[in-house]
Amino acid sequence: MQTDVSRRNFIKTVAVGAGSAAGLTMLGGVPQVFAAQAEAAAPAAPAFEGKPKFAGVHNVRHISEDLVYLGASDSRLALFENVYPIPRGVSYNAYLLLDEKTVLLDTVDRSVSGQFFENLAHALGGRPLDYLIVNHMEPDHASAVSEVLVRWPNVQLICSKAAEGMMRQFFGFEVSAHGYTVQEGDQLVTGRHTLQFVMAPMVHWPEVMMTYDITDQVLFSADAFGTFGALNGNLFADEVNFEAEWLPDARRYYTNIVGKYGPQVQDVLKKAGGIPIKTICPLHGPIWRDNLGWIIDRYDKWSRYAPEEDAVVVVYRSVYGGTENAAKVLATRLSQGGLRNVAVYDVSKVHVSELIAECFRCSHLVLASITYNMDIFTPMKNFIGDLAAHNLQNRRFALIENGSWSPVSGSRMAQEMGSMKDMTQVGALVSIRSTTNEESFAQLTALADALLTDLGHAAPTAAASEQPAAQATNRWVCTVCGYIEERDELPDDFTCPVCGVGKDKFKKVE
Ligand code: FEO
Repeated sequence: MQTDVSRRNFIKTVAVGAGSAAGLTMLGGVPQVFAAQAEAAAPAAPAFEGKPKFAGVHNVRHISEDLVYLGASDSRLALFENVYPIPRGVSYNAYLLLDEKTVLLDTVDRSVSGQFFENLAHALGGRPLDYLIVNHMEPDHASAVSEVLVRWPNVQLICSKAAEGMMRQFFGFEVSAHGYTVQEGDQLVTGRHTLQFVMAPMVHWPEVMMTYDITDQVLFSADAFGTFGALNGNLFADEVNFEAEWLPDARRYYTNIVGKYGPQVQDVLKKAGGIPIKTICPLHGPIWRDNLGWIIDRYDKWSRYAPEEDAVVVVYRSVYGGTENAAKVLATRLSQGGLRNVAVYDVSKVHVSELIAECFRCSHLVLASITYNMDIFTPMKNFIGDLAAHNLQNRRFALIENGSWSPVSGSRMAQEMGSMKDMTQVGALVSIRSTTNEESFAQLTALADALLTDLGHAAPTAAASEQPAAQATNRWVCTVCGYIEERDELPDDFTCPVCGVGKDKFKKVE
């Protein structure tokens, strides 16, 4: 009995004889004795049809009369792609078009395939599945492709030419044995609907394509316009508070997963700009049927590497607190100058995917790092490397270095940032020796003023005007953080606005 056959044969054989001895034998070399037992028992064994008539629990929702959402969410996975934390989970979206022909658009990740197949069978309601369109081969969407072919052996598979090799690599079959490849502009008429294929290479893999339903003006956008976050009942973006609750994850998803490929996303946006779109059906997250311009505008900015907001993100790496204190002194001075959009992060504590997203959001970056092994401290160095890997560009940046004997992290960071496209340094490097002193405090103040000016914000004099002792004759220095207060006398209840210590920690500058 044959025990060594290709996976292509496995697919085809099981498809026509699921549960038969022949099918079992094809499973990569099943021992002959087992195969013989299976063959003997075969006549009594019913063909496998999944859960009885797929009558189990289903969780589908109609997007329109003949378009059904079949996806499912995974709220147990900790790390998407084994890298990105997803505390809000993630959805894997798939869609079924119920026209004269039935068309499945993409499948799901292995983790939710049980729910997906129940949904699919329920939505088909006993009808055959005619077409399976695979817009994206990444396994979070294509894991169930081979099982669809097994369950519906007559389905016609449709994918891009670039997906052919991946079908072979992941599943071991030739596309030509189960369907065909399509090119830019090819169309599939399914009855009332006409579907047109739009190639979208590198959004986010090279084989990606999108499918546009000309009839109902629906764009099945693959990974584009997707986001982390499980769908918990609400399916449409207009059913949730997207900007408040979803945007940070949408930004983090885009910038980390697709951020490197801005020019390719721009190409697709240009194509999309030429067609009327009423609905966007992505492979992750809510469906867009309202206010499409808002999310398209975000994608346009992200993919052009244009800052989303006039804002400062300060990312620091400290060991004993000196560099952290400098970062917070700077943030305080920016706030005193009237800037409210300031975010401060410890690169050692905040996941790098959050930091990448914040750097895409903000117009100005401040990096503050100690010196370590005559270089940038490792977590900061890795973070800057990640920024470069994600192709971040077109930002204004400022630097703070610290070193107790030979500070060099500033020049190293300047070198790394300078190697990225269209990065411009603002203000002078702030150089700290262990802790902030009067001199470095003055440098931080000057840097804050330079950033404020660069942001078109309050003039430096306005920043200083928030200090109550404009006419003061005395200057008081905080012995803990170096903050200087200018006023005649400090009141008994005075506390340092930077580090919070009381009046007793201040001494008069003579
Ligand atoms: Fe959601 Fe590129 O896969």
